[in-house]
Amino acid sequence: MLHLITNTPVKHKISILRDKRTGTKEFREIAGELAYILCYEAFRNAPCAHGSVESPMGLTASYTIDENEYVFLPILRAGLGLVDGLLSFLPNAKLGHIGLYRDEETLQHVKDYYKVPRDIERKTVFILDPMLATGGSALAAIEILKEQGVKDINMICLFAAPEGVSAIESAYPDVDIYAAALDERLNDSGYIVPGVGDAGDRLYGTK
Ligand code: PRP
Ligand code: URA
Repeated sequence: MLHLITNTPVKHKISILRDKRTGTKEFREIAGELAYILCYEAFRNAPCAHGSVESPMGLTASYTIDENEYVFLPILRAGLGLVDGLLSFLPNAKLGHIGLYRDEETLQHVKDYYKVPRDIERKTVFILDPMLATGGSALAAIEILKEQGVKDINMICLFAAPEGVSAIESAYPDVDIYAAALDERLNDSGYIVPGVGDAGDRLYGTK
């Protein structure tokens, strides 16, 4: 299910990312800020422990998120651009990493790096990738997590294409997708239009 978060501050920041004149430093900062905002929305109704806290004025109710229950899983490389923003929201969340490449003969995504917390199947996992285009990378990551027994899978992306959203919704309707923009379409090369171009290149200055 898609949760599209498009309030005015989000649209403002998304517009800065789209601007081809935006440089690497600003692109990275804004991507992190948007990740923070999306995560904030994703946790709107998150479970929390109820207790009490003593303020200088007296005792009152407290609410605590158990950060240990969450794993952020960036898809290398562009997904790394969302990590700092999310860790500023939940500094004690666990971090996994997944690297995928596309086999040119089978066109299937193959994992070439995978390191996650040992008990990931018991955690709530957020896959991170700024771009959900065809959905191929996200589907591959979800499949790997499902095989490992992970039940609570979510995705945080900045830009989503209708094609990618449909692909995930039909294969894995239980996965929640949090996005800051639902764009028009994919072009013939699988790039999101209008999108931002190559997110990895924009984040790391590799073009
Ligand atoms: C980009 C992006 C996603 C993928 C999205 O990564 O970060 O992982 O493409 O496309 P899809 O939905 O069609 O799979 P890319 O392969 O360009 O690698 P990079 O992160 O190293 O730039
Ligand atoms: N990957 C990107 O970096 N950008 C797109 O538009 C699609 C996939």
